[in-house]
Amino acid sequence: MRVINDINTLKDILFQLKVEKKTIGLIPTMGALHSGHLSLIHESNKECSITVCSIYVNPTQFNNPSDLKKYPKTIDSDLVLLEKASCDIVFCPEDKAMYANGHHITFDFGKLDKVMEGQYRTGHFSGMATIVSKLFNIVQPDISYFGQKDLQQFTIINELAKNLLFGTEVRCVPIVREENGLALSSRNMRVSAVGKDEALILHRSLEIAKKNLKNGESIDFIKDKINRSFADSMVTLEYFEIVNSNTLEPISSYTDGEPVAVCIAGFIEEVRLIDNVLI
Ligand code: PAJ
Repeated sequence: MRVINDINTLKDILFQLKVEKKTIGLIPTMGALHSGHLSLIHESNKECSITVCSIYVNPTQFNNPSDLKKYPKTIDSDLVLLEKASCDIVFCPEDKAMYANGHHITFDFGKLDKVMEGQYRTGHFSGMATIVSKLFNIVQPDISYFGQKDLQQFTIINELAKNLLFGTEVRCVPIVREENGLALSSRNMRVSAVGKDEALILHRSLEIAKKNLKNGESIDFIKDKINRSFADSMVTLEYFEIVNSNTLEPISSYTDGEPVAVCIAGFIEEVRLIDNVLI
């Protein structure tokens, strides 16, 4: 496994690999890796001859400065995990390389970035799309891999790649969970054991909503029930939405077979966690 910090060195290596007709898979990450990230590496290893994982905590996608400051950094153990997972290249650039010309470009994805995460994290998706565009330009991957865990992020990147003709296929990989249902997240490292138990209400809410939707309960009934269930929880609910999983627009009724996602975000011990299920 090669660890590279410099953009041009990476481009040179990838150029040679492409001459040799190798297919390139890209997994962008912000480090603090866990089995969720590694499942993306495994998918890439299955489909591509070379797997590139980037580790870069992108400052422009953090709407909250303290969240950026507290974002876990575990580069040594990340590299051990990536080596074990048979990753070929790790790209760890510095801010001065990724933002050599400052940060002036903004993205607007219409309705896609106004709902849910977009409503509560102003500028987040614009910063995220900026860094992913830079990574797409540098690596020019045949296939890039993103987690369903960040469903809205995946939907926006899919739109970004198609709209700007980046020429990469964008894959969505299912959510990896703890046995008890908690979605793995780098931010879980900042939550106590008690907090993690409390945070199970997020996944539980999604499962209840899924069951109720299938039983024909109305959207209003389900939303009201879930909102009320947070009254005596340590988790502060930020949003609970039932949306069309392609357009991300809230739906007012459910018909069997429709592409629907139930999405949730909440705070526990000042840490913001998100989760979703596809119906
Ligand atoms: P990060 O939060 O490190 O996540 C990197 C990738 O891992 C994302 O595609 C995310 O959806 C996926 N992932 C995280 N937890 C997962 C889980 N439990 N199961 C499956 N996949 C999971 O998302 C980002 O970084 C950044 O926004 C990034 C795309 C790197 C741009 O800076």
